[in-house]
Amino acid sequence: MDKLVVEGGVPLQGEVRISGSKNAALPLLASTLLANGRHCFFNAPRLRDIRTMQTLLRYMGAVSTTEEALQIDTSKIHRFEAPYQLVKTMRASVLVLGPMLARYGRARVSLPGGCAIGARPINLHLKALELMGAEIKLDHGYVVARAGRLHGASITFDQVTVTGTENIMMAACLADGVTVIKNAAREPEVVALAEYLIAMGASIAGAGTPEITIFGVEELSPASCTVIPDRIEAGTYLVAAGITGGHLRLNGCRSDHLEAVIQKLTEAGLAINCEGDTIEVSRGSRVCSVNAKTQPFPAFPTDMQAQFMALMSIGSGVSLISENIFENRFMHVLELRRMGADIELDGRTAVVRGVKRLSGAPVMATDLRASASLVLGALAAKGKTEISRIYHLDRGYESIETKLSAVGAKIDRVKE
Ligand code: EPU
Repeated sequence: MDKLVVEGGVPLQGEVRISGSKNAALPLLASTLLANGRHCFFNAPRLRDIRTMQTLLRYMGAVSTTEEALQIDTSKIHRFEAPYQLVKTMRASVLVLGPMLARYGRARVSLPGGCAIGARPINLHLKALELMGAEIKLDHGYVVARAGRLHGASITFDQVTVTGTENIMMAACLADGVTVIKNAAREPEVVALAEYLIAMGASIAGAGTPEITIFGVEELSPASCTVIPDRIEAGTYLVAAGITGGHLRLNGCRSDHLEAVIQKLTEAGLAINCEGDTIEVSRGSRVCSVNAKTQPFPAFPTDMQAQFMALMSIGSGVSLISENIFENRFMHVLELRRMGADIELDGRTAVVRGVKRLSGAPVMATDLRASASLVLGALAAKGKTEISRIYHLDRGYESIETKLSAVGAKIDRVKE
């Protein structure tokens, strides 16, 4: 297993190219099951989660290659199953459920188990598919779903769910009649998926608003598209500049996907300037402590909570950070405390009292964004930090140590 060794204290300077979005690419790959033939994705990130989704699609009979673009040929799908081995390494595997059921009338998908950040059930996905006419049983840890042709339905999600919205939107494209999803997720990744589905011939209105209407069609055809930039990777590098007191220029970004994050970081004392697809960020004086609450898009994202907490740990006062999406997404708190952060948990709120400086320590990554927060803490800390279990980082950050080294960080990947 690899670990990262970071010698902190260097203000980062230079340019970073932002990769394609993991959470946009995953549903795009799943959507290929809706139309036989060759689909083509430019700017897909080279990440472990993307390879897992490719493995899953290959298991089902797709041919997948990565050259200049990531291509998936779904002409010969012959297995309608997402096995436990793959779903347990990546929950987003459940995104194949809606497309498989809509296109082939059957699907067998392992139920995801518990997760480091919360229970994360898929009951809302299943309830919506039932409303569209699917018969769903649980059998030996698997969701077994059958349907003739799915039919349109009016679906109101009890809670905003990103992959739930994506799964149902995909299924509805081939359903008979009109589906309306209310309380839909508005994340940019949902909009990007809708745009690809429309390019395939789907008829969808309202993506990016809380109500999405999908008019079912008989058939879709493969298409090609460019994956949107990863807003969470960009947000993480914005914090990297802020926490080290550096100056970075991020290229290939969509600042309109980062408004809440940019607003919070500006309140925290970072100077941020957006122009075209570039965001420039620097910090002169000490980080100001500000409060943050995670909420669905367009509010402050849960996927930036851990990184923001690392920044607040060197703030000038007290910051209250509330996590409202996942009940257990504070696994980074104990590790940041090992680096000298002063953080107390009070239910779903972390009380972060800023300290002058963090200090390097051996720490362990527990999930993707928690791992990112430890890297950020390490970049700012005095002395050496060793971060183990970094396979989590490889799921979601393309070439993180190469990108950070190129802007001056002292960071090495070593075998444990
Ligand atoms: N929920 C249910 N039942 C469901 C579905 C969701 O109770 O059937 C609950 C969840 O337990 C959670 C809340 O609803 O408390 C929201 O979860 P959501 O379904 O929106 O999360 P997700 O779709 O599983 C995606 C991202 C996550 C990101 C969340 C929230 C992908 C592949 N994953 O997960 O990304 O944190 O939305 O924005 O898009 C990450 O990249 O590190 C990551 C975890």
